[in-house]
Amino acid sequence: MCGIVGYIGNKPAYPILISGLKKLEYRGYDSAGISVIDDGKIKTFKCKGKVSDLEKHVKGNDLKGDIGIGHTRWATHGAPNDINAHPHKSQNGHFILIHNGIVENYARLKNKLIKRGYQFSTETDTEVLANLIEYIYLYGKISAEQAVRFALKKVIGAYGLVIICADEPEQLIAARKGSPLVIGIGDGEYFIASDATPIVEHTKSVVYLNDNDVAIITKDKLTLKTIGNIKLTPKIQTLDLDIGEINKGDFEHFMLKEIFEQPRSIQDTFRGRVSKERNTIHLGGLHEVMPKLVNARRIIIIGCGTSWHAALIGEYLFEEFARIPVEVEYASEFRYRNPVIYVDDVVIAISQSGETADTLAAVNQAREAGALVLGICNVVGSGISRATQGGVYTHAGPEMGVASTKAFTAQVTVLTMMAMLIGRKRFILGEKKYEKFISELQKLPSKIEEILKNNDHYKKIAGLYVNSNNFIYLGRGYFFPVALEGALKLKEISYIHAEGYPAAEMKHGPIALIDENMPVVVIAPKDDSYEKIVSNIQEVKARGGIVIAVVTKGDKTISEIADHVFEVPSTLLALAPLLTVIPLQLLSYHIAVMRGCNVDQPRNLAKSVTVE
Ligand code: G6P
Repeated sequence: MCGIVGYIGNKPAYPILISGLKKLEYRGYDSAGISVIDDGKIKTFKCKGKVSDLEKHVKGNDLKGDIGIGHTRWATHGAPNDINAHPHKSQNGHFILIHNGIVENYARLKNKLIKRGYQFSTETDTEVLANLIEYIYLYGKISAEQAVRFALKKVIGAYGLVIICADEPEQLIAARKGSPLVIGIGDGEYFIASDATPIVEHTKSVVYLNDNDVAIITKDKLTLKTIGNIKLTPKIQTLDLDIGEINKGDFEHFMLKEIFEQPRSIQDTFRGRVSKERNTIHLGGLHEVMPKLVNARRIIIIGCGTSWHAALIGEYLFEEFARIPVEVEYASEFRYRNPVIYVDDVVIAISQSGETADTLAAVNQAREAGALVLGICNVVGSGISRATQGGVYTHAGPEMGVASTKAFTAQVTVLTMMAMLIGRKRFILGEKKYEKFISELQKLPSKIEEILKNNDHYKKIAGLYVNSNNFIYLGRGYFFPVALEGALKLKEISYIHAEGYPAAEMKHGPIALIDENMPVVVIAPKDDSYEKIVSNIQEVKARGGIVIAVVTKGDKTISEIADHVFEVPSTLLALAPLLTVIPLQLLSYHIAVMRGCNVDQPRNLAKSVTVE
């Protein structure tokens, strides 16, 4: 969703802001803008479209200023157009600001400001914020920093903000509540951003703002305080992010790069945690909470999008290997339905970004109810990882493609390790079986390499169905969530309507859709329900449907009935989701590319959904 960059230092701000905005493009956005303080004047340029459109818009203007802010907007209040794009100026021009998040009480604040003579030229909640700060500043005859702090006390909602005051042009003011902000510390310069990707090329020393923090930044000083004016000591951390990880390298798209990274990212997820020699799984982030986890009355797993699909696989894993009842729920539903939460429940929140608004809110709710709340996050230091009492990082590396691929397989890898470990500690998983799992887990990267070698085959099959309007994905057991994920990947990036179903449910509706124009992707490796899925395939074929089947290498039966097969090496059933999902990711990728879609930034989607 929206992205923020800010710069204050001795270099021209404009190129740093533009390059920063390009690094944030992966989050998804529909308009962009910048403000630079040039010769004491604030110059603002903004427009609908991409950062490259903004560059064209600015062209010919020689911006030399060394202080500035930039924003990519994902529309919430008001259409994506030039006027609603950020930065937003207050009515009398004293303040200009960029904002991530949502001001929930904006309508009330707006009405009050209208009564006090303010007029509004945009539909945004951000303009309300700019005018509120200005009103308090002028009315109270106070400093910009005081006005910002006082105004924010009146705001209900979430914000990551960077503010310029025209009367105090030597500083930037940043504030956070619910929407991340990180400040990079250079030599006589500071960088501000909504995540570390625009900062890492300049410095690795960073300070993450906490909720209710306000930062006052001049070229040579960072002052941190709370919104209530209590001084804080900035906690400087070193970024664990490599610049190479946020570049596409030789790949055409981030998504393709991330699909091909999976042998390594899965290895990174279990590296140092799984030892074949000692036959152990060690998850440091769960050490302290392990007694409670092992004795949990129930596990509730929450997430959104792809993370929710990983959670579903977690349900099968925990129930099978740890014999603990599991409920899986969309974070957005969980938080609003007054769920029954017991103090001996364990709630696991899964989130790649660690910032998804609904998941974060659900985490806080579960904590208030007294449950043990754990996180499975990819982004280190993210909101959810900080709000939880323990957890496991996925260590998949930065994921830039909006459609999640390597983060998903890393999440499933973590869930697998957790289920095995808890199952072993509960004496449900015997030593031999545990040993077998550990050894098979370690073979997965090379098996994924094998699957990736068939990329041309997936591409060829993709070419046959590039003009299809609908797809159905079917799977049973562990492969039902894989079917959901396969369908989600296709609709996210190619805009083809696709639905995932448990294969047996096909007869209760989707079968009515099957005809010679309907490709049906069936995830059917050899497992206990193999015969049943073969019957499902027969049912599709009997109605003229096209079957693309993901099968275990060497499968003869399905190869004879299906139109196309994608073979995956054999592994333990519980690990097979990690293999079977790979051809589905590549199928979606190729179809989307052939349809001319923007694979890395699909329309209307955002990488990190920081509003509910
Ligand atoms: C967005 C992204 C998805 C992601 C979902 C949950 O919809 O486009 O790829 O699965 O958010 O995000 P999270 O960061 O919480 O895993």
